[in-house]
Amino acid sequence: MRQASVLLDRDFAIGTTDRRLFGAFVEHLGRCIYGGIYEPGHPTADERGFRRDVLELVRELGPTIMRYPGGNFVSGYNWEDGVGPADKRPRRLDLAWFSTEPNSFGTNEFIDWCRAASVEPMLAVNLGTRSGEAARNLVEYCNHPGGTYYSDLRRAHGYERPHGVKFWCLGNEMDRPSQIEYKTAQQYGLVAREAAKMMRWIDPGIELAACGSSGRHVPTFGRWEDEVLEHTFEHVEYISLHTYLNNYAGDTEAFLASSDLMDRFIEEVVAIADAVAARRRSTRRLMLSFDEWNVWYRTRRSRAGRVEEGWPIAPPILEEVYNVADALAFGGACISLLNHADRVKAACLAQLVNAIAPIMTETGGPAWRQTIFYPFAQMSRLGRGRVLTPRVESDTYSTSYCDPLGTQELTFPIESVPYLKIAAVDNGSRGLSLFALNRDLHRPMQVSIDARGYEILRVVDAQQLHDADLKACNGKEAPDRVRPSPLEDVVVDGGRIRMTLAPASWNVVILEPRANDRTPARIS
Ligand code: AHR
Repeated sequence: MRQASVLLDRDFAIGTTDRRLFGAFVEHLGRCIYGGIYEPGHPTADERGFRRDVLELVRELGPTIMRYPGGNFVSGYNWEDGVGPADKRPRRLDLAWFSTEPNSFGTNEFIDWCRAASVEPMLAVNLGTRSGEAARNLVEYCNHPGGTYYSDLRRAHGYERPHGVKFWCLGNEMDRPSQIEYKTAQQYGLVAREAAKMMRWIDPGIELAACGSSGRHVPTFGRWEDEVLEHTFEHVEYISLHTYLNNYAGDTEAFLASSDLMDRFIEEVVAIADAVAARRRSTRRLMLSFDEWNVWYRTRRSRAGRVEEGWPIAPPILEEVYNVADALAFGGACISLLNHADRVKAACLAQLVNAIAPIMTETGGPAWRQTIFYPFAQMSRLGRGRVLTPRVESDTYSTSYCDPLGTQELTFPIESVPYLKIAAVDNGSRGLSLFALNRDLHRPMQVSIDARGYEILRVVDAQQLHDADLKACNGKEAPDRVRPSPLEDVVVDGGRIRMTLAPASWNVVILEPRANDRTPARIS
């Protein structure tokens, strides 16, 4: 049995989670939109074509903000194609995913869907094939009350009141040579700055995110942020980060350590943004928008024969089937986000349905939860509040993680990885949510937590995601093969908590104050 101890103090917090930390992403990609959130004719579809079975799962998952319409897709997208009478919308070749885009779903459908799902919309503008002008026109279309060409166009399309979209992404992954019309940092920085100026002149209430690097492993990381922020620092509130964790190497210990590189990535981007501020003697602090994160590897390299496949509408691409090990690595990423709540103020799980997603559907058939659904739903439901600074004592291991870039195999050493990764969130009413990952694949772990300032706690709920078979997954035939089960061994006495975590497990424990009762509580 491994031992670990954690010291928490009610007075020492990293920061408070922003509502937008629990976001997700829908892109015109494969069956994410068509056959995913939108499928007119599906037995559960409402009059607008929104799948009600998917909406129900989305509500359970609990995303708070939704990024749209891409991703790579946005860099070749004309937003005007997706508004107005559906039968007049053009079909286009989508060069991001080598598909045919029918444009039956566009900005207004997305806004309606967000309202139905009770999530805030986040729109990305095309700074690949288009420039600031198309972006400013979209802001006018969405947010201007009326009396001008684009605002009146929206009204003519049946939307009298402005959509009031607050959060805007200035392009997507513009650093990546495979992006449609990618740019150097200087080219992008200038275009993003000019777009930002005009967009904000139309609506001063909007918030803007500049594109950071598409990954920590890309060769331009660091220099890209520095140069982009040199041009945009005064014009944006956020800089973005993207990360997809992988287990290409089949090395699960390294895979479970990989979220620690997300921690480094976040801290490095904060350092660069603050260095840009320092050069300006500025007290302005940019926040981070981690607007694409997930586990993704099996379906990542499978588009080689894409042109030969023709130009299908909504092909079943990137339909990653997640197993237990993926959910554990994913849980580590959730902890990384929570533990940087002071600077990461928005984050989007990429994506929502079918394409690298927590929710899967069959076109015309059922919908079900993938393994990664559970850590996300728990984090969104229980992770809101003040994240406490955990002082962790745990055995560690060292490993190296492979993050391929095209055909290059890049290897990153990760040293001193604590077997225990944990986040603790104070929910405001003297209660605590604990999120704990035991990264030891073979040994259980006894964790002792001293939660100072929390006098009397009782266990409200304790769940674990653990399976002897790390490759187990859910599917249409066995949609509940993997799901959380009760975590039995949690003992509480005053502010001291002792729990035993199974090897290779993700654990969530909810504690509440229990007035006038100091009896140790045990759940079973
Ligand atoms: O989420 C899938 C793709 O990953 C997005 O379109 C792109 O931005 C990223 O590389």
